[in-house]
Amino acid sequence: PPLSEILNLHDFEAIAKDVMHEKAWAYYSSAADDEITNRENHAAFHRIWFRPRILRNVIKVDWSTTILGQKSKMPLYITATALGKLGHPDGELNLTRAAAKHGIIQMIPTLASCSFDEIMDAAEPGQVQFFQLYVNKDREITKRIVQHAEKRGIKGLFITVDAPQLGRREKDMRQKFDAEDPSEVSKAGSDGVDRSQGAARAISSFIDPGLNWSDLKWFKSITKMPLILKGVQCWEDALEAYDTGMAGVVLSNHGGRQLDFARSGIEVLVEVVTNLKEKRGLSFPNERFQLFVDGGVRRATDVIKAVALGATAVGVGRPFLYAYSSYGPEGVDKALTILNDEFEMNMRLLGARNIEEIVPEMVDASNIHLH
Ligand code: FNR
Repeated sequence: PPLSEILNLHDFEAIAKDVMHEKAWAYYSSAADDEITNRENHAAFHRIWFRPRILRNVIKVDWSTTILGQKSKMPLYITATALGKLGHPDGELNLTRAAAKHGIIQMIPTLASCSFDEIMDAAEPGQVQFFQLYVNKDREITKRIVQHAEKRGIKGLFITVDAPQLGRREKDMRQKFDAEDPSEVSKAGSDGVDRSQGAARAISSFIDPGLNWSDLKWFKSITKMPLILKGVQCWEDALEAYDTGMAGVVLSNHGGRQLDFARSGIEVLVEVVTNLKEKRGLSFPNERFQLFVDGGVRRATDVIKAVALGATAVGVGRPFLYAYSSYGPEGVDKALTILNDEFEMNMRLLGARNIEEIVPEMVDASNIHLH
């Protein structure tokens, strides 16, 4: 169907399933084991309801915000997803260009198909980008990657902490990874490629399962970029991240691709906000320690719920992959236009004229169990 008939982010997924190469679809859509967490990610938003306010003169509404000190036209960013070229020859550049056009931030993955410099070179002057880091067993390699990223102007380093070993994504494992295909080979440096178990496993053998809390001090000594832990799943670890001097955490289960039966980020957000308030007197959103959520975000209402509950911003992954795999760069542009339109309407209907007015009282999250 023509792009004009696409009405929401779910539509891209349905089309991508039909038009994408089987192998690419398997890698992008797959999740761990029985994919229960993957389904729960979006479903968890269904348990939160709105308490809108009326009669507030909502002629003008503004959903722009600041993320880690950087301006963003929406309280969301494009999260890191590996192997961008599986879906389209321009890979991650489709995301870079659409992010520039819409004034939002792209998180560049360690395992991008395009090289890091290629992506940075494709950015507009002044375009803000974050970087997602998989920590290499060889810390010299990691140090080089981190310091190069900082030199090129990356504004936030998101260290992935939920993947000491890659989850079993069986849909992907049933496909044979072909290292001869240049679209699948990451320039970020993979070694010991095992071709027998899908793309994910083939590219992940360099990731250090020995990574631990004491490594974070080292990261602080090699870079001045804000450090954020991506993949925190309970308040205890969020508290430790705060005490360790991290700039924030992403409450995420890696799009359901790691531990199946991990809870959704939006659910974890509630216990993190409550416990960090109780134990450290923090209120959210908080400049010094920012909370992010990703997983299953498909509507502006999902984003607004996370913001109401204390998140600074949310990450969106698969919908943009499906958008460019089906329609190229215009697909991502359309996805972001849809989200913008949804923000405008839903902020009016909610009675929130700006991000500060999206307050906890505007949601009923009593169906979320508190730990
Ligand atoms: C991911 N994700 C991910 N995360 C990360 O830290 N490093 C990575 O290399 C990848 N790669 C990756 C590939 C693909 C195909 C997907 C779908 C996801 C996880 C990603 O950053 C994010 O946590 C989820 O994608 C969010 O869920 P949704 O929006 O895809 O539902």
